[in-house]
Amino acid sequence: MTTHSSQNNSSTATNSQAQSKGLLRGRFSEATDAFVEAFTASVTFDQRLYAQDIRGSVAHAHMLGNIGVLQKDEVEQIVDALEQISAEIEAGSFVWSVPLEDVHMNIESRLIDLIGDTGKKLHTGRSRNDQVATDIRLYLRDAIDRIAAKQTDLLNALLDLAEQHIHTIMPGFTHLQAAQPITFGHHLMAWFEMLLRDRERLLDCRKRVNKLPLGAAALAGTPYLPDRESVARALQFDGICANSLDAVSDRDFAIEFCAAAALTLTHMSRWCEELVLWSSQQFNFVELPDRFCTGSSIMPQKKNPDVPELIRGKTGRVNGHLMALLTLMKSQPLAYNKDNQEDKEPLFDAIDTLEDCTTALLGLVPNIVANKEVMREATLKGFTTATDLADYLVRKAVPFRDAHEIVGQAVQRAVTLGKTLEELSIEELNGPDSSVITQDVYQVLSLEGSVAARDHAGGTAPSQVSAAINHARQHL
Ligand code: ARG
Repeated sequence: MTTHSSQNNSSTATNSQAQSKGLLRGRFSEATDAFVEAFTASVTFDQRLYAQDIRGSVAHAHMLGNIGVLQKDEVEQIVDALEQISAEIEAGSFVWSVPLEDVHMNIESRLIDLIGDTGKKLHTGRSRNDQVATDIRLYLRDAIDRIAAKQTDLLNALLDLAEQHIHTIMPGFTHLQAAQPITFGHHLMAWFEMLLRDRERLLDCRKRVNKLPLGAAALAGTPYLPDRESVARALQFDGICANSLDAVSDRDFAIEFCAAAALTLTHMSRWCEELVLWSSQQFNFVELPDRFCTGSSIMPQKKNPDVPELIRGKTGRVNGHLMALLTLMKSQPLAYNKDNQEDKEPLFDAIDTLEDCTTALLGLVPNIVANKEVMREATLKGFTTATDLADYLVRKAVPFRDAHEIVGQAVQRAVTLGKTLEELSIEELNGPDSSVITQDVYQVLSLEGSVAARDHAGGTAPSQVSAAINHARQHL
């Protein structure tokens, strides 16, 4: 750029200025600071939106064709070039440029390289603000569909495992103390219920993700009067964002996804905590497949449940992403602000983490082997039928509080004698002050009798667990 040409504002001077100062810098007197250029760029992480960006651009080009802003052959040229760009990206031959800032400018710049002035027309009636909001929504919608499908597989895997363990007795816990006998199938169906709600939440969130921002342009809409409904249909959106300011600025849909993901991971973390405990030598309730466990670098005997531990650990980062996005959104005035560029890394990582953890559990769950005898022994040792004994006394007209006392003393005797409740004689069960307990008590003290007695919707009786599984199979 010569002093002369910069003074006389000729069109040649403007072009050369644009080249030397960088893209979008017509109104500036100097080039972007090198640090600022890298600091404000998002291309290193938003390039993963390339397929959605291209899909959105194709739909936008067709819309511009339909309203007469582009000629038919121009639309074709643009669509062909965008397909070529997509192929270049997938082949790894596309050169991503940080000075071009983001995925949108990288692709648009390549489009202009390929087809010249026609490529420059694509951005008519559009802004990166509605473009990026569209891209993220498309990306998240695809991710939700993939994850929900995996969740369905995992739900089915839980049903299959639960079905194998309708009659497997284990101690149910409160305060991590053996409380009452339950079936392992019933326990697994509790996990199932959690995940079922998680999938429901995700699919509900999808409804609000699946709205089209395009047409909002920078913030106020565009004078080209786009046919937004037809763009929405072309991109399989359920409708359009109703307000242009809201369309380009809010990221509540991403926050909602992270909330659903955080809750799902929180549930998974609970299951994983149980798997870690149960696979320990102290519990020894289950075996996890060797290929899902790792060894220790120093202790040769170790078989560590790294996969469940990692899922438990990864819950923290998804909770963190939810907090990051809530804080990102808070206090932002309408409409678009650059702050929103910070939505992508937390969102992408929340998606990846949720997807990976679901995949991991999908590998793990069908291969959980229950040590039925150990579970049974633990149930017997835990005096878990004490409540059944109290209920037995109530049926014999003993007030519940007195029954509680009598049973408490029987448990104490069992502890002293080193016996289970079932092993106590009638005299030992009654103690010196009672004679209410008779021979028929042993049915009540059996583990099978105890679980079978809880025979109502939501109870642990095998017949109920079986009904719950059948009902679930019909509704999945
Ligand atoms: N990279 C930007 C983002 O992720 C795209 C939108 C840029 N818009 C703007 N007005 N600077 O949010």
